[in-house]
Amino acid sequence: MTTTAFARNQWYVAAYPDEVGDALLARTVLGEPLMLYRTGAGEPVALADRCVHRRFPLSMSRRDGDRIVCGYHGFTYEPSGACVSVPGQTRIPRTARVPSYPIVEQDSLVWVWIGERDRADPAAIPRAPWLDAPGWTTVRGMEPLAARYGLLVDNLLDLSHETYLHGGYIGTPEVAETPITTETDEDAGIVRVHRRMKDVQCPPFYAQSTGIDGRIDRWQDIEYHPPCLYLLHSRIAPTGVEPRPDGDDSVACHAEIVYAITPETETTTLNFWMVARDFAVGDEGVSQYLAASNHTVVMQDVVALNALEKVIAAEPDGYQELSINIDTGGLAARRLLGKLTGA
Ligand code: FES
Ligand SMILES: [Fe+2]
Repeated sequence: MTTTAFARNQWYVAAYPDEVGDALLARTVLGEPLMLYRTGAGEPVALADRCVHRRFPLSMSRRDGDRIVCGYHGFTYEPSGACVSVPGQTRIPRTARVPSYPIVEQDSLVWVWIGERDRADPAAIPRAPWLDAPGWTTVRGMEPLAARYGLLVDNLLDLSHETYLHGGYIGTPEVAETPITTETDEDAGIVRVHRRMKDVQCPPFYAQSTGIDGRIDRWQDIEYHPPCLYLLHSRIAPTGVEPRPDGDDSVACHAEIVYAITPETETTTLNFWMVARDFAVGDEGVSQYLAASNHTVVMQDVVALNALEKVIAAEPDGYQELSINIDTGGLAARRLLGKLTGA
């Protein structure tokens, strides 16, 4: 069964850095309403979006410098969540504090820790260095899903669907025809799925962006770091062009397709998508093409997954799916998620 259970005590992407600024941003992660903003010194802050007094959303309140003044009766909070002023009295109740969340900006992503504060270890956040590395250009977006996050995990771990759902963009017949290999690194908690295609058609997404004309070797190497970070290392080269024996692969084009899969509620998901590339770097026309084309692909998935969520909501208990070879990556991911959620 595709899970709706949440993995707590984990890092999740809550926003892109440019979304966290002077304004008070409301975001829900794992069912917890958060409010994010940036202090005058540039530090991101995540507080619970609920005033301790009568629950007014702090995201509907106002700033006084780095402090937040509740828009209902004026309780005033520091970035730490401590209340420093209440109306009509000088004594501030000891329990007047809103929870604050550990928050880290890394690789042009804003990560928050959902769980017990003292277990938050920033070193455990998985990396996606291409997103803001020199020599790479990234396009990105976020398209919310009216579907449980497990459906997006299934979707991204089985790219054979590209042939059917994304034909004319990233799908070609060979994607579904080429078998995959799946490995699970139990200690690191990572699923890897490889699909190496030789002498295949180049889909428009890559033909138009790389300028490669003719048949290609196309590698899709997935790395899923449950629960939140999904990386697709995509290598595109004219057929027969291999990496050099010393590992130098500058002759090929590389795209790093990154998703942050952040459960919002049990049946909705924040679906952050990014495409970083090491070719046509800085070419604005290629950036516009890839952003528009990938947005179309993402929306094709959104429509499909939103439909699946409706089907699941209407089906009888105990409905059994049927799985085949293409599902080994998705099943491995579900198993690792099961360990994290205790399911
Ligand atoms: S609800 Fe915030 S001060 Fe009353
Ligand atoms: Fe897709």
